[in-house]
Amino acid sequence: MRTSIASLRRRKAAGEKFTVVTAYDYTSARLVDASAVDAILVGDSLGMVMQGHDSTLPVTVEQMIYHAQMVRRGAQRALIVVDLPFTATASTDDAVRAATKIMAETGAQSVKIEGGARIAPLVRQLVANGIPVMGHLGFTPQSVNTIGLRVQGRDEAGAGELLADALALQEAGVWSVVLELVPAELAAAVSTRLEIPTVGIGAGAGCDAQVQVWHDLLGLYEEFVPKHARQFRVLGAEVRGALDEYSAAVSDGSFPTEANASSMDAATLERALGDGGAGADAEGPTA
Ligand code: KIV
Repeated sequence: MRTSIASLRRRKAAGEKFTVVTAYDYTSARLVDASAVDAILVGDSLGMVMQGHDSTLPVTVEQMIYHAQMVRRGAQRALIVVDLPFTATASTDDAVRAATKIMAETGAQSVKIEGGARIAPLVRQLVANGIPVMGHLGFTPQSVNTIGLRVQGRDEAGAGELLADALALQEAGVWSVVLELVPAELAAAVSTRLEIPTVGIGAGAGCDAQVQVWHDLLGLYEEFVPKHARQFRVLGAEVRGALDEYSAAVSDGSFPTEANASSMDAATLERALGDGGAGADAEGPTA
């Protein structure tokens, strides 16, 4: 049975943490589904880790839907949340249309939207239309060009604004809120003041849940480990090792073996070639 939003909200009430990880395709979604992680975020971080852009800004609604559909086919248990990309947020009407399309075409259980009190009217409209919304405060990657890539809410004004934004989003109806790159003390204080779960990334252990990006958590970028991440495995090295071994095995003839191939009856092959086995020496047209 699929994890529900209601069950994750109950976890907060019971003081039990939950976990979210990003995934962007069928195979990784299957792996998450078979693990103890509760929810998948099809994040617009896919613009960076899957598409190689230097920000999340170029990602389109169609691309979010494409990836979310793959994830949905791989995940029958985990709750699925899909980011509303920057390209869908030029106006409230655009955002409502895009969120509706994402929900209708992917089978996800929620969208996630970046922004504070400013987007409360949008959240209200989506929730009234039956679309669950996860909020996202602190460092919001879609605003990297205005706020910079840095911890948010460190000074008095910023901390007060972040709390006010969190309360405004809760009041508007979000069921949870991501706190990204927020001082741990502030994130913990916000978490205790909200009824809805906070989902931290670079926001300390006082949040009600944590979210991590697939590639960070699995060590696919060995040379770059963000401060907010832990490499629970270093799969980048494993993958490179496997590729090098494959290449060496082909070079030295140890792969493929007979066990990796199929065979056929020699007489049948001879008849099919129609040359009594002399095909290799026969003169003929070359490609
Ligand atoms: O897009 C994403 O992966 C995110 C997480 C970093 C929270 O928004």
